Amino acid sequence: NYESTLVLLKPDAVRRKVCGEIIARFERKGLTISAMKLLTLTPEMAAEHYAEHKGKPFYLGLIEFITSGPVVALVLTGPNAVKMVRNMMGATDPANAAPGTIRGDYAAIMSKNIVHGSDSIASAEKEIAIYFTEQ
Ligand code: CMP
Repeated sequence: NYESTLVLLKPDAVRRKVCGEIIARFERKGLTISAMKLLTLTPEMAAEHYAEHKGKPFYLGLIEFITSGPVVALVLTGPNAVKMVRNMMGATDPANAAPGTIRGDYAAIMSKNIVHGSDSIASAEKEIAIYFTEQ
């Protein structure tokens, strides 16, 4: 169950200068940073990342937001990393995210929910390949 997951610290995290604090939480939990970089997503990368949401009412806003400024992309590795990161992030809607979770502590609205984490091992493999090469 040693696995890797893809985390994005979204443009709101970079703008608000809280990336370090959020990364510190993942490290303190015991997850290993296997890869990390700052980049601005192209519309093509955003469309690939969020392909499953294409056609939904919030899709265009989501693509606009995620490409609106730099993000920090990380590969985090550890036991049950996918589930661990999901638990640490809290519910997708910050209004439902428990205090103590990242969204519960840092975010207020669904469309700017500060962080993304892969929802399964299959998604993680697909998403990691969008941002990183094997090297
Ligand atoms: P994320 O985990 O990055 O995956 C898809 C994103 O779409 C999600 O976080 C939210 O930021 C956003 N999202 C999901 N549902 C809605 C919604 N109903 N309205 C606005 N944004 C949404």
